[in-house]
Amino acid sequence: MKADCYHNIKSHSIFKYVLKKLHLFKILLMPGNSFGKMFKLTTFGESHGVAIGGVIDGCPAGLEIDIESVQNDLNRRRPGQSAIVTQRKEPDTVEFLSGIFEGKSTGTPIGFTIRNANQKSKDYSHIKDTYRPSHADYTYDEKYGVRDYRGGGRSSARETACRVVAGSIAKQMLKNVEFNAFVSSVGKMELQKDYSELDFSEIEKNPVRCPDPELASKMEAYIKEVRAEGDTIGGTVQCVIKNVPKGLGEPVFDKLHAELGKAMLSINAVKGFEYGSGFEGTKMRGSEHNDHFNTDGTTKTNLSGGIQGGISNGMDIYFKVAFKPVATLIQKQNTINSKGEEVEMQGKGRHDPCVVPRAVPIVESMAALVIADFFLQNKSSKI
Ligand SMILES: Cc1cc2nc3c(=O)[nH]c(=O)nc-3n(C[C@H](O)[C@H](O)[C@H](O)COP(=O)(O)O)c2cc1C
Repeated sequence: MKADCYHNIKSHSIFKYVLKKLHLFKILLMPGNSFGKMFKLTTFGESHGVAIGGVIDGCPAGLEIDIESVQNDLNRRRPGQSAIVTQRKEPDTVEFLSGIFEGKSTGTPIGFTIRNANQKSKDYSHIKDTYRPSHADYTYDEKYGVRDYRGGGRSSARETACRVVAGSIAKQMLKNVEFNAFVSSVGKMELQKDYSELDFSEIEKNPVRCPDPELASKMEAYIKEVRAEGDTIGGTVQCVIKNVPKGLGEPVFDKLHAELGKAMLSINAVKGFEYGSGFEGTKMRGSEHNDHFNTDGTTKTNLSGGIQGGISNGMDIYFKVAFKPVATLIQKQNTINSKGEEVEMQGKGRHDPCVVPRAVPIVESMAALVIADFFLQNKSSKI
């Protein structure tokens, strides 16, 4: 009896201890606004608030930071850049607040903001109490009970501008590593060539960011057609990373491809990620699929996608990211409101008919954040 009582008291205090720890865990880790371990980005802000911004912690001191190059990357993501993206006109000018002195990183947190300039919050009053099908309105309301509905609030892809700022700095740190992302499909129109046959210098020459100019102009016409019907269309972005040092990636849970997958799947509207031979590889036999070695450790083929055992092997890393047709249609749709009543709604405001052209710099940036983080972590892998 005594022992039982003692056991109860003990388990009760263990229970309290665990609850306390969980609470602490929740405070410290739950909110999910940070990415990376050693090269770490935390972002803040909503689409129609005063500003969005971030803090990059862990950028080593002494890195020469080319702010113009950061701004160029932001311009590639910016709304209003062409006729096939949202016509919201945002200058998206980055202002650095800390961590850079006389053009170089100081090793202290790099804080930055991007002011929101072109809000038309009135355009969003129709979603105050009504949920856009397949957007984040319902789930945010259920989770928090308070929702900044203007422009989608925190769920807006406006947040990804902050990722582009950090990714751009990560790319500057990884001077020799080349990140090439491009649009590989829009709807059913798919680039049929292997990336080795592509001229990456063509990517930025058309508004779709597809390196095959003929296909790009067909894609552009199709996106315009979809927009005219008040509809949206999905697509894929492929990314090829060249000159990746060997040894990046931390087995077992933080494998390089696992972190790349998380990075890509954290981008708004992403539905899928595959690297190397991906899903197609399942149709092959091992005898066809194995990458045989050359004597210098390179491989004759690269179906592994530059990663084996979660660690980079020095070959190109290549992967594809699938983006859905985004939710806001300029068409009537049936939905429900916050009282659970069936209502009809029609999207208003300025929206993207197809997000992949703007997603290209976002994919590159998230890839750069992952590689930069592992690059720094790998400095302690052996003596
Ligand atoms: C570059 C970019 C632009 C986007 N623009 C829009 C948009 O104009 N309208 C919209 O409904 N969704 C847009 N989205 C997608 C939404 O942010 C996203 O679908 C929403 O937050 C719900 O999240 P989920 O689709 O990942 O579940 C965009 C996404 C990206 C990457």
